[in-house]
Amino acid sequence: MAQKILITSALPYANGPLHFGHIAGAYLPGDCYARFQRLMGRDVLFLCGSDEYGVAITLSAEIAGRSPQEHVDLFHRVNEQFFQQLNFSFDHYSRTTWPGHVPTTQDFFLTLQKKGYIEERTENHLYSEKEERFLADRYVVGTCPKCGFTEARGDECQQCAASYEAIDLKHPRSKISGSPLTLKPSIHLYLRFDQFKDRLAEWIGQKPWKENVVRFAMHYIDDLKPRAITRDSSWGVPVPGYPDKVFYVWFDAPIGYISAAKEWAQKIGKPDRWEDYWLDQETKLVHFIGKDNIPFHAVFFPAMLMGQDLPYKLPDEIPANEFYLLEGRQFSKSDGWTIDLETFFQRYSADQIRYTIAANAPETADSEFSWKDFQSRCNAELLGKLGNFVNRVLVFTKQHCASHIPSRHALRPMDEEFLAQMKTLVETAEQNYEAFRLRKATQTLMELAQLGNVYFDAKKPWQQVKDPLRREELETVLSLSLECIKHLALIASPIIPTTAQTIWTMLGCVGVLAQSSWQKISQTSLPEGQSLGETVILFRKIENTEVEERIALLGKKMTKTPEPAISHTPLKPSISYEQFEPLDLRVAQVLEASSVPKSKKLLKLQLDLGFEKRTVVSGIALSYQPEQLIGRKVVLLANLAPATIMGIESQGMVLAAGQGQLLELPHIQDLPPGSVVS
Ligand code: 2FM
Ligand code: ZN
Repeated sequence: MAQKILITSALPYANGPLHFGHIAGAYLPGDCYARFQRLMGRDVLFLCGSDEYGVAITLSAEIAGRSPQEHVDLFHRVNEQFFQQLNFSFDHYSRTTWPGHVPTTQDFFLTLQKKGYIEERTENHLYSEKEERFLADRYVVGTCPKCGFTEARGDECQQCAASYEAIDLKHPRSKISGSPLTLKPSIHLYLRFDQFKDRLAEWIGQKPWKENVVRFAMHYIDDLKPRAITRDSSWGVPVPGYPDKVFYVWFDAPIGYISAAKEWAQKIGKPDRWEDYWLDQETKLVHFIGKDNIPFHAVFFPAMLMGQDLPYKLPDEIPANEFYLLEGRQFSKSDGWTIDLETFFQRYSADQIRYTIAANAPETADSEFSWKDFQSRCNAELLGKLGNFVNRVLVFTKQHCASHIPSRHALRPMDEEFLAQMKTLVETAEQNYEAFRLRKATQTLMELAQLGNVYFDAKKPWQQVKDPLRREELETVLSLSLECIKHLALIASPIIPTTAQTIWTMLGCVGVLAQSSWQKISQTSLPEGQSLGETVILFRKIENTEVEERIALLGKKMTKTPEPAISHTPLKPSISYEQFEPLDLRVAQVLEASSVPKSKKLLKLQLDLGFEKRTVVSGIALSYQPEQLIGRKVVLLANLAPATIMGIESQGMVLAAGQGQLLELPHIQDLPPGSVVS
């Protein structure tokens, strides 16, 4: 049976748009690893999703004038779409507001409580009489107890970097209303992490993890104290038996990995299948995270898992990466220190950025994106080494071997050596991927491309072709060069999957490379006589002017609202009520949803209007997965004359708010289908 590997990438907060800095740490390394392991024939389940609770989210939502639900709905979709743009291969992208996450989290808690790991404590917390609520640290400003700075945040001072409890601030006040705060006792529940100290120390002691992970984890274990796992808020997973409290976001978020597996299992129609991964000790569990998440994944979540009755799998690997900066500074939208993603994806491909990040992934130290490095990786490496080699061999073979893979004849020492070196590099790439060394795997890819170029140049097939007596020699050179291209496609596949597939198709290979097998591809030669596919150019050159333009924009604050980018569409001329009145807008419920063949944007929906059913074609496929829509209520322009779209008669139009390609359906909760919208 294939080895099961459960891979997670840290659930990003649905509290703003992600950028390449995030992608480099917990996400791209996870995706490349998952893609590699699938090629190795392992039974991979790769999960991620939005982390949607916590005071940071309620605060941002409040400042943005949205409800927390609207806020997370928006950024869940923005971020999911970003991952799609980057060609991520998650088996499921969940969210912690998925209803099934509530019982999963509560069961975790109830078991910990039953086993005596939960303790109730009453302590003073900051309370706003005006807002009639306790305020968590993010909601509080005041005077720093250390340096006297009057605008200090609730948890740390941005002037002197002191770290303290919110109750230590002098003159604390609400960040929202500015009203003064008082101390009031409140009950909170604490998880007795101290009781797991010995078990954790023994368990981590056996792990051959990266030095930074072990060091961080041991540091926390040395001083393990009970920690509060509840908050006074209405936004979060409710705490059973404590009506006004929800769980602290770091209690429920990692349980989100389990809920995501449950939601995935339901989606594929096998609701118990999550257990095969989470409850089987043979599963390999790998958490990809950024270094700031180490304590939660190496100490706190494992303790919560140890405190359960069910035999949950503990993590086997925690590849934690450092930070990825932009031209030496942290990405910051508000300071304009950022990359505009809309323009980026209009000009460059997902593979270009995936390659650039992978080649310089922050594995052992912080690293950075720089436009010059991006240009040089794309021009000198992807185009200059990989693209040129693939192109010159294919074009030459097409010209001189009638577009077929030629036969291999007697091998000379240089051919033998070339074959041996290719084999070694494929093995090295395999070891690098297996050991989470993405930078090295990327390097190996380029070494192989370089090896191919050197071989091709040394053999000078353009001279061989002039001498009919050297025909066999020529065919052998081309056969081995094509073999090298095949290995390049294989090694490249986890990092630049689209390019790898294009190369695969150019070689005349059928099917999806990513669904094939590393062993089979690396050990079986391309069939002699196979006809080559159409040759396409893999990469275009990035000009100096382009990057200079991008560099000049750095640090210029955006005039438009930063999150998400909103360009103002001019209002249309006004209309009278009589012009509006003929529109018959109705609430309708989605019964079925499916994609429309050959269309990326369209979905076919079966809608229930209460009194009749309709088929409607809607252009929302880039923003919603079909299964997300089942049961959802939408607003339908019901008296729009039917129109045939992609061969399907569409009987009405579903209304959605839009910004570029991102569309959002209005949220209708309680009214039944057929209700009039006016
Ligand atoms: O740091 C973060 O972005 C957190 N939302 C990561 C959570 S990982 C897991 F525990 F859910
Ligand atoms: Zn201070």
